[in-house]
Amino acid sequence: MRVHVADHPLITHKLTVLRDKDTPSPVFRSLVDELMTLLAYEATRDVRVEPHTIQTPVAETTGVRISEPRPLVVPILRAGLGMLEGMVKLLPTAEVGFLGMARNEVTLEPTTYAERLPDDLSARQCFVLDPMLATGGSLAAAIQFLFDRGAQDVTAICILAAPEGLAAVEKAFEGHDVTIVLGAVDDHLNEHGYIVPGLGDAGDRLYGLV
Ligand code: URA
Repeated sequence: MRVHVADHPLITHKLTVLRDKDTPSPVFRSLVDELMTLLAYEATRDVRVEPHTIQTPVAETTGVRISEPRPLVVPILRAGLGMLEGMVKLLPTAEVGFLGMARNEVTLEPTTYAERLPDDLSARQCFVLDPMLATGGSLAAAIQFLFDRGAQDVTAICILAAPEGLAAVEKAFEGHDVTIVLGAVDDHLNEHGYIVPGLGDAGDRLYGLV
């Protein structure tokens, strides 16, 4: 498993505004979108391409195009949905599947409550979107779900991670083709399962308290 923490002043600047408790939902949503586009650029560094020959107005030349089967983007509901637009802006030909995972607030264990994915993910490159890698439970369950359907390699994109959750996912997928691209690794996870300093509940901040 590989971990890549995007180290860029623009990302840190946007993250700082995102963390601020006084940042309202509309600004929060557009910042997630902007951050996501920057993280998507890092996360797609190894997207599979194949040679493609075209004719410019001047000459024939061979470049590349994204290979078939098309990559699959999987936002984890609810908060991962806020990252989708930023991702498909960079990868417009990707297909999009959905996975609804919630954590039990007492046990912190993940459960799958919705799923809309192709049955066969063989040879698919999958990009999972989940803003907060906290305990790692729901992200690990989502990645396992994709491998169980035949996915070959999985890249997860998270805005923030707690070291505890990152270690748990690393342990679960040691030796597997999994990459995690992160905006930052924070200090720790508190007793309520929140990332510290974090940004609070990403779903609530994106969509309000439901
Ligand atoms: N999920 C969130 O939205 N925030 C956290 O800090 C942890 C999990």
